Amino acid sequence: MDLVRPDVDAYATEHTTPPPGWLDRVHAEAVADLPYASMLSGPVVGRLLQTLVAVTQARLVVEVGTYAGYSALAMAQGLPPGGRVVTLELDEGHADFAQRQFDASPVGDRIELVRGPALESLERLDGPYDLVFIDADKVGYPDYYEAALAKLAPHGLIVADNTLRDGNVLDPRTDADRTIAALNRAWATDERVVATQLTVRDGLTLIRRA
Ligand SMILES: C[S@@+](CC[C@H](N)C(=O)[O-])C[C@H]1O[C@@H](n2cnc3c(N)ncnc32)[C@H](O)[C@@H]1O
Repeated sequence: MDLVRPDVDAYATEHTTPPPGWLDRVHAEAVADLPYASMLSGPVVGRLLQTLVAVTQARLVVEVGTYAGYSALAMAQGLPPGGRVVTLELDEGHADFAQRQFDASPVGDRIELVRGPALESLERLDGPYDLVFIDADKVGYPDYYEAALAKLAPHGLIVADNTLRDGNVLDPRTDADRTIAALNRAWATDERVVATQLTVRDGLTLIRRA
């Protein structure tokens, strides 16, 4: 199901500053070599993430779920001098692909890839986190959220992806749908935070401290 009409989606892409050629090539290689093209953030969400990093002047960005490295590279473009992205990935094949892309890119030296289960990595990683992008297994989101919030900087931002689940949050059928639907309800009333559900692509939720 397309949440946004395909022609409107194409219009949004056309009217977003295009990614640099090297990032377009990461996208193309990921589509060719990895199995799940729908996991890639793509040019509009990539630009949005880069902009959020830039306007918040985030010095430490943590990403939960690297896949091809597309979103990590998009965010790395927005970092201030000395800033870094730490990206967490469980799957060795995805991590190997992403590391090759980081090594070949002009901003890859700003990215540290940490292999292993993301929750364990979050427990080890020092804060404060200026921006956290949550984009891994959906049933893990409640734990990633609590771990991120515990080390979130006072003016930090959490961005959670796929929070509309193709619209399935309205009528959840899988554990992943049910987890995200429950989390969406919890965020809207969690007095520790202010949450904004965006209908960009598959749903992005922006969460900051209250
Ligand atoms: C949707 S993809 C990430 C896409 C990427 N952020 C982007 O926008 O280009 C989710 C990734 O999370 C990884 N993942 C799933 N469960 C994980 C876990 N428990 N710990 C770390 N990574 C995990 C998957 O292997 C996959 O590469």
